[in-house]
Amino acid sequence: MKIAVTSASGKLGAEIVQNLINEIGKENVIGIARTTKKAEHLGVEIREGDYNNRAQFDLALKGVDAVLLVSGMDDPQKRIQQHRNVIEAAKANGVKKIVYTSIIGAEENTAFSPIVQSNRQTEEDVKASGLDWVIGRNGIYIEPDLEYLENYATEGEIRNCAGDGLCGYTSRAELGYAYAQMLLKEEHNQQTYNLAGEAITQTQLAELINAVYGTHLTYNAVSVSAYEAERKAALGDFIGSVIAGIYEGIKIGAQHVPSDYEKAAGRAHKSHVEIIKAFKKREL
Ligand SMILES: NC(=O)c1ccc[n+]([C@@H]2O[C@H](COP(=O)([O-])OP(=O)(O)OC[C@H]3O[C@@H](n4cnc5c(N)ncnc54)[C@H](OP(=O)(O)O)[C@@H]3O)[C@@H](O)[C@H]2O)c1
Repeated sequence: MKIAVTSASGKLGAEIVQNLINEIGKENVIGIARTTKKAEHLGVEIREGDYNNRAQFDLALKGVDAVLLVSGMDDPQKRIQQHRNVIEAAKANGVKKIVYTSIIGAEENTAFSPIVQSNRQTEEDVKASGLDWVIGRNGIYIEPDLEYLENYATEGEIRNCAGDGLCGYTSRAELGYAYAQMLLKEEHNQQTYNLAGEAITQTQLAELINAVYGTHLTYNAVSVSAYEAERKAALGDFIGSVIAGIYEGIKIGAQHVPSDYEKAAGRAHKSHVEIIKAFKKREL
C-alpha cells in the first residue's frame, strides 16, 4: 500500500508524512511537494507536484493507492481548480482513495467565508470523484498563537474580535495522527469528520498560555471592524481581512461544533495544556 501526501513541504503535510512513516514505514510513503527540497528532510521518496500543474500530478500519483490532499493557500477561486487537478489525476491514475483536509468555519457572513466555501466545493468534488474518500474539517491550529507569543507578551494581552466565542482549537500534530488513521482504515471511508479539540474562549486560551509559559496575558475583545483595520494595516488587505474573518467566525459560534476527533483518530484529542507544553519543549 503506497500512500502519497501533497504539500509535504508544509507543516501539516510533514506531520501527516511522519505519522504515516510510524504506521507503515518510510518505503510506503511518498511526499509530493511544489518545492521538493523543502520536503527532502522527511526521508521518504519526494515527487514534484504544484497544484497548478496537472501533468506533474499524473506522474506523482503513478503507483499510488491513496492520496492525502492538503488544501491550498491560493485565492479561494483558484483553489477549486487546483484541487480538481489533483482529483482528476488521482482518478486517471488508478488511485483508490482520496482524503482531503477541509476546514471548519462560517460558510456565510465573514471575510473568511469565501475560503470556507471553496473548501466545501472541493468536498463536493472529492465526493463526486467515484473514489473512496474521507474528509476532515480541521479546527483552528493553536500553534500560530504560540508562535506569536513574543508579540502577545510585549503587549501583555491577546486582542482580537472573537469576544466570548468558543473555539475547538486543534494542532497540526493531532491532525497528523488522525489523518494517518483516516488514510489507513477502511472504516473511515465515505465519512466527513470535524477534527477539533476542546472548545475554549480567548480568555481561557490566555490562562492556559499563562499556566505553561508563566506569562501574565489578559484577553481584550475589540470590535470586528477595529480588528479588521488593525490586521489589514499589519498584514495587508487580503490576509488581514481573512484573519479578522476567522476571529469573527469564532465570535458567532462557527468554530464551536461537535468534534469527531476520537472517532477519526481512535483516541481522544490531547488537552490544550499537553499541546502547549509539547510546543514549548520543542521550542527550547
Ligand atoms: N486550520 C488552520 O488553522 C489553518 C491555518 C493555516 C492554514 N490552513 C490550511 O491548511 C493548509 C496546510 O497548512 P500548513 O500549516 O501546512 O501551512 P504551511 O506550513 O504554510 O504550508 C503550506 C503548504 O502549501 C503548499 N502550497 C502552496 N501553494 C501550492 C501549490 N500551488 N501547489 C502545491 N503546494 C502548494 C506549500 O508549498 P511550498 O513549500 O512550495 O510553498 C506548503 O507545502 C494550508 O494550505 C491552508 O489551506 C489551516
